[in-house]
Amino acid sequence: MRGSETYQQVLDGDLLIRGLSTDDLPRALSIERQGHSYPWTEALFRDCFRANYRLWAACHGDLLVGYAVVAYMFDEAHLLNLCVDPRWQGQGAGRRLLRHLLSEAAREQMVQTILEVRLSNDTAYRLYSVEGFEEIGRRPEFYPNGDGREDARVMALQFPA
Ligand SMILES: CC(C)(COP(=O)(O)OP(=O)(O)OC[C@H]1O[C@@H](n2cnc3c(N)ncnc32)[C@H](O)[C@@H]1OP(=O)(O)O)[C@@H](O)C(=O)NCCC(=O)NCCS
Repeated sequence: MRGSETYQQVLDGDLLIRGLSTDDLPRALSIERQGHSYPWTEALFRDCFRANYRLWAACHGDLLVGYAVVAYMFDEAHLLNLCVDPRWQGQGAGRRLLRHLLSEAAREQMVQTILEVRLSNDTAYRLYSVEGFEEIGRRPEFYPNGDGREDARVMALQFPA
């Protein structure tokens, strides 16, 4: 694999979205530690394998390249985690995961999807905005950040009735 163009061709042609299973956890945790400054623990991940959660995997062949974790609360989907292996970022996997989880949430009669994103996370903020999310508020000092805390933007996307 030489450069991003080669990755793009591979991902466009051969990216599969399927359910994430507990067998994927070792690889998912490795991606999690590379993708997030404050990664989820294995226990936190395992706690999401429940009836009202949806966990999605983006795969190139057998290789897990990213995942998403969504909690359904009544009629609202809450995107808790979206992460792509840094070596595969910028090639469309995050958008594919996001579109998939949104279409599944709409299909399962959710009325909206909400999420929190760090104020400093321009990449994720841009992706969510382009895909139709709007900022509906802020949660002050929501995230740990070095010795201090960082605000979260709260974003929402409503599904048509
Ligand atoms: C946010 C994240 C999931 C996006 O996944 P991805 O596969 O890299 O994103 P995509 O390739 O689908 O790109 C989607 C959009 O994201 C933005 N984006 C992606 N990579 C970017 C980069 N390096 N710089 C700026 N914007 C970027 C762009 O708006 C892009 O759309 P465009 O191609 O039309 O410009 C990924 O960067 C990631 O895992 N980051 C670390 C974890 C994280 O921050 N998760 C979100 C927490 S709320």
